[in-house]
Amino acid sequence: MSAFERELRRRDGSGPLRVAQRAAAGGPGGVVWDAALVLARFLDKSAAHQQAPPGRRLRLPLRRRAVLELGAGTGLVGLMAASLGANVTVTDLEEVQDLLKMNIENNQHLVTGSIQAKVLKWGEEVTDFLPAPDYILMADCIYYEESLEPLIKTLKDLSHPETHILCCYEERTMGKNPEVERRYFELLQKDFELEKVPLDKQDEEYQSEDILIFIIRRKRTDATS
Ligand SMILES: C[S@@+](CC[C@H](N)C(=O)[O-])C[C@H]1O[C@@H](n2cnc3c(N)ncnc32)[C@H](O)[C@@H]1O
Repeated sequence: MSAFERELRRRDGSGPLRVAQRAAAGGPGGVVWDAALVLARFLDKSAAHQQAPPGRRLRLPLRRRAVLELGAGTGLVGLMAASLGANVTVTDLEEVQDLLKMNIENNQHLVTGSIQAKVLKWGEEVTDFLPAPDYILMADCIYYEESLEPLIKTLKDLSHPETHILCCYEERTMGKNPEVERRYFELLQKDFELEKVPLDKQDEEYQSEDILIFIIRRKRTDATS
């Protein structure tokens, strides 16, 4: 494995998914962020989670479900979903598309659903991505103020009350980060309900106190119910 690749096995030891990184050229999307590892293994655990007693089960089946990933970066999270049988569209800015497409091609042998890459800039037209997917995935997408309103617009445009939005991010205490996070939740809670995923429902190895996963659902209104 080259120094610029990251790999992630499934919980059952299968795989591994291998993604190339391009730290210099790809901006923040050129590398795998820790939140992506945590979210990918959470998907694996909750999609395959058959054994737990009913009360403790958090089941998010992915087989044949439509999944859209925002700010996908290297595509690792979307690739995990596709390896679990989902039909996935990974999206990001134009400059990350080559990396996304290369990583999809190199992991095609592990895909049991389907996966494609497309450009989607937050806040812009989403007609190409409708009808609303079953799941929207986001790893480490909450990090700069100017993106918050466009990002939440995209979530609104792409979701209905049945859509599960899985948002995983690393809490950061430096600079403007706490204010960006506070503002994100303030804006989000106008139209969405949030549920924090406790650590005991996450992957036992890929979890951390400062990496949070939220399951976000669109509030029901007269227009959506
Ligand atoms: C911190 S990186 C996270 C990448 C990947 N999800 C991960 O966790 O490894 C944030 C991602 O959001 C994308 N992004 C930032 N602003 C965006 C925008 N306005 N529209 C679409 N994607 C954007 C970046 O290109 C980058 O891939």
